[in-house]
Amino acid sequence: MVTYKVRVSTGKDLMSGTFDCISLTIVGTLGESNKQRLDHFGRDFAAGSIDKYTIQCDQDLGELILIRLHKERSKIFPKNSWYCNYVQIYTPACTTYHFPVYQWLDGYETLELREGTGGGHHTQGKTVLDENLPILVTHRQEELRAKQDFYRWRVFVPGLPNYVHIPSYHPPVRHCNPDRPEWNGYIPGFPILINIKATKFLSSNLRFSAVKTASFFLRLGPASLGMKLRGLLDEKRSWKRLKEIRKIFPATKTAISEYVYNHWKEDQFFGYQFLNGINPGLLKRCLCLPEKFPVTDDMVAPSLGEGTCLQAELEKGNIYLADYKILEGIPTVQLNGKQQYHCAPLCLLHCGPEGDMMPIAIQLSQTPGPDSPIFLPTDPEWDWLLAKTWVRYAEFYCHEAIAHLLETHLIAEAFSLATIRQLPMCHPLYKLIIPHTRYTIQINSIGRALLLNEGGLSDRAMSLGLAGFAEVMCRALAETKYEDLYLPNDFIRRGVQDLPRYYYRDDCLAVWGALETYVSEIINYYYRSDAAVEGDTELQAWVREIFTECFLGRESSGFPTCIRTVPELIRYITIVIYTCSAKHAAVNTGQLEYTSWMPNFPSSMRCPPMQEKGLTTEESFMESLPDVKTSCIVLLVLWTLSKEPDDKRPLGHFPDIHFVEETPWKCIQNLKERLAQISCNIKERNKNLPIGYNYLDPALIENSISI
Ligand code: FE2
Repeated sequence: MVTYKVRVSTGKDLMSGTFDCISLTIVGTLGESNKQRLDHFGRDFAAGSIDKYTIQCDQDLGELILIRLHKERSKIFPKNSWYCNYVQIYTPACTTYHFPVYQWLDGYETLELREGTGGGHHTQGKTVLDENLPILVTHRQEELRAKQDFYRWRVFVPGLPNYVHIPSYHPPVRHCNPDRPEWNGYIPGFPILINIKATKFLSSNLRFSAVKTASFFLRLGPASLGMKLRGLLDEKRSWKRLKEIRKIFPATKTAISEYVYNHWKEDQFFGYQFLNGINPGLLKRCLCLPEKFPVTDDMVAPSLGEGTCLQAELEKGNIYLADYKILEGIPTVQLNGKQQYHCAPLCLLHCGPEGDMMPIAIQLSQTPGPDSPIFLPTDPEWDWLLAKTWVRYAEFYCHEAIAHLLETHLIAEAFSLATIRQLPMCHPLYKLIIPHTRYTIQINSIGRALLLNEGGLSDRAMSLGLAGFAEVMCRALAETKYEDLYLPNDFIRRGVQDLPRYYYRDDCLAVWGALETYVSEIINYYYRSDAAVEGDTELQAWVREIFTECFLGRESSGFPTCIRTVPELIRYITIVIYTCSAKHAAVNTGQLEYTSWMPNFPSSMRCPPMQEKGLTTEESFMESLPDVKTSCIVLLVLWTLSKEPDDKRPLGHFPDIHFVEETPWKCIQNLKERLAQISCNIKERNKNLPIGYNYLDPALIENSISI
């Protein structure tokens, strides 16, 4: 008789425990155990518990390679779900086998899982090339087949990355309507289910925890109710004066939001936001003025100061350009019965001797001419402020549609889905990437149901409507290049590699370096040669699927269709992990504090761009800004999306044990130490700044896109 000791860990979240009957079968290279019930005195499988059992076998099972977890009907209790973290088995010879589960078991089902090292305790976590047992080859294939069968790609909008089609998605939101906040129905504690189907190789693991669900939805209802009670959500009129906009502002105050409120009109702060605001990746060095933007020396001489001229500053590399051409010609919609307007401005900036980035000229169209004057800081105050506000309006679309939704949420969702579909759980790249996909498919599914649906919140608050918003993203995806996603190159391409006070870039490069080192340590451990990379058919299928489903098979994107060498793989995986974590933090975390003061981030404009100078007044400025109702809806959306809910996991913290071997754990430890040092450096630097830049502080970055 051989005795195996078994430990079973149940998830910590409120609703992870189960009263159903759980049994276990252990499969080894020399045979398998009988199915044995896991039942000890007292409560089994309570949330957060680790339960211990013994399993008796007639014979030694050899090396342990698989387990089967059986979840069956209890005689007393109705069916309830179970989130199992892992199962560990100790042999009489004192060998420990670790079986990662990290899945929900919802129904009465059997789940077959591999040992963490990929089976065969003396080998490293496996690629398909290392597989040597037929039973494991079959298991691997069956797992992938089940996942590919269940998780299917679906077209979201033609021209955008495809997304996951989940047949049994049941959003708990009954109706989302700011006019009827009491309808923003959600049952606290009821987890957001994304699927309920289970097979032998796949269970349902795509759901929010109860804590996260509650913290997410409980914000929207009270916030919209508050505005409703104050009558603001019914007001289709203009704001009377700037000060009146403070009415919707108080609940969102932070040191930075106050700074925005106090400084939004200033040129210095307007320029600062291009570097360290929430859309810090757009500005380019301008060595030669584009023909479409005929700024003259006379126009900018007062801004440049004495002893220099525009040509000299262009040659010195001190002139920068924000070009919103991508927004050109998109039709607008009516909001609250009023036609909205749009433009694709150009903004020229000068980096002065003190290192301040100052706007020096703005043109509100891509076509110069008498109807499109070039606005200057020397123009009447309201003209210049409105011209800058049009640029901030253009920033709204470049930030929300491109930098935030497309370049992080949608692309990361496609990375996540390809990872689930093409890499088995025992694959080292699965283990490396999966923590960076946590909750991404879930939050995007909610986003589509709540924000990106026809007549939904976004459709009712943006001058471009939903179709125009999608068009901006489609254009941006068509221009996306693989090499630009390698951000150290992107800074060089944009000519901003040596720009002073560009904290976003400094922090980005520091975090990038830490992640790239971590990825290279792990990849070098699992892939000992280029041949191991090239021969990994699962890896190649994963890369191909991302090319086809995310970048729509466009060769012009430069996205690889296969990966042949270890350095290429390191580069690819670093891009994936950075995109799924830090890149999102840089554009997401500051959303509310930079945008809650609406004039700094208007989502629509109610008057056409100015065609003449000298006509703007405070009154016409207020008439151009979004009306009261539109402002409130946008604030509600940003309020919901930018408050980080509970149940966070900071970058580099991997409580789920997917890697079993010692080396990857050392790599993770090294990563944590590097990130902690970066965090210290950022905090130290911020002490001396008027407003700190902390969106890329690793302590505040999440492992994945979860909001
Ligand atoms: Fe986000």
